[in-house]
Amino acid sequence: MWLQTSVLVLCLGLSNAAVTWQLLPFEGDCTKFYFQIGPNSVFKFELKCSKDQTFSATTKQCVTKFGRLDDCSMRSPPELIARSYDEGKSICATDPTAVFADEENCAGFYNCSKVVVDDTGNLPPFRDECPYPALFDRINKRCDMDYTTIEPQCGSRKIKPSPCDQLQNQCPRAHCIPCGVRYPNCVGKRNGFQEWEGRSFSPYYANCQDGRTLEAGTCARSRSGSPRIFSPTQKECVDVDSKTLFGN
Ligand SMILES: *[C@@H]1O[C@H](CO)[C@@H](O)[C@H](O)[C@H]1NC(C)=O
Repeated sequence: MWLQTSVLVLCLGLSNAAVTWQLLPFEGDCTKFYFQIGPNSVFKFELKCSKDQTFSATTKQCVTKFGRLDDCSMRSPPELIARSYDEGKSICATDPTAVFADEENCAGFYNCSKVVVDDTGNLPPFRDECPYPALFDRINKRCDMDYTTIEPQCGSRKIKPSPCDQLQNQCPRAHCIPCGVRYPNCVGKRNGFQEWEGRSFSPYYANCQDGRTLEAGTCARSRSGSPRIFSPTQKECVDVDSKTLFGN
């Protein structure tokens, strides 16, 4: 992108020294910006900052996301980032090593020592989330995989049992397989092996426990090497024959 831009600028510069250009913020999306020729020209096109950068309206350039010059992520933040900063900033300013619970989500917490954005891009500085299906133990200030022992202390902090409620599993960008396709849903289902909704009569199944998705499973092939599928009625992997498929 930048190469393209500079080549263009160079060409324009050579052909007409009076041509001016400017970089403008893209309303509603800090990762993009406009390249505009002339002050009021309709001749403008959209460009994108590289990964982990946002466009700074003040300095008119792409800068490190959440860095010192980033005036975009904070100014028009998604709700989570706003909360992370509002709640994290004041507490973390006085206690830079503090770890405290998210008052809205029993799996969420704030960690003032965590100053980087996580790999998924969904957890800004200070903000963290227990690995699924763990819940945050506010007394011992740590995640506990045994969620049943933590549930009683959640109170008004919501318990969200689906793996797709986890921020880490949500798609921050395009070309990401939606969470609902990657994980079967166990909310409202009995414990044990269950049909993977949307993938009936396939080798795929869910292993459910307390509404949590413990496993997204695939039936192993039979000894003879033929594929097996998960039977929604028998709740187990079965050979593919007419009885399984047509019930007779
Ligand atoms: C808080 O973040 C620091 C730095 O990333 C990490 O070492 C520590 O384990 C985290 N604490 C919790 C409770 O996750």
